[in-house]
Amino acid sequence: MAFKRLAIGNDHTAVALKDEIRAHLEERGYEVVNVGTDSTERFDYPVSGYRVARMVADGEVDGGILICGTGVGISLAANKVEGIRAVVCSEPYSARLSRQHNDTNVVAFGARVVGIETAKDIVDAWLSAEFEGGRHQRRVDMIDEIGRTQHLTATN
Ligand code: RB5
Repeated sequence: MAFKRLAIGNDHTAVALKDEIRAHLEERGYEVVNVGTDSTERFDYPVSGYRVARMVADGEVDGGILICGTGVGISLAANKVEGIRAVVCSEPYSARLSRQHNDTNVVAFGARVVGIETAKDIVDAWLSAEFEGGRHQRRVDMIDEIGRTQHLTATN
């Protein structure tokens, strides 16, 4: 699936990086819905993680981008929403493979971890990669089964 409409969310550590990534995406023709904070006052990252995840899970957007200090907390929050597969990464290789093999629908990274150019490389790699399906589909289905039922029937 080609991503066209995206939601972006962040906490107080990532306002400047969010703005740069948003501008980078809009220049490339993506529609970006900002649901994060635009203030550097303390802001709890689960709020943005949940907002973006909800929009992706409900089909309001094709994918989501999340930025906090490390990308860890905000991706953990997003992954609690059924149907969300959020990857946190600090280089583009994992971002690309997470689309090709894991069909991730949210990408996260840390404003205290990566600089602007690496952040752009991460989102570009993530957005340009396609899920390969095939043997990977069965494993993604297993991940989703765990989220849906809190159990896994397959034992390998
Ligand atoms: C905020 O201080 C920090 O905890 C947050 O941005 C993030 O790194 C959490 O995972």
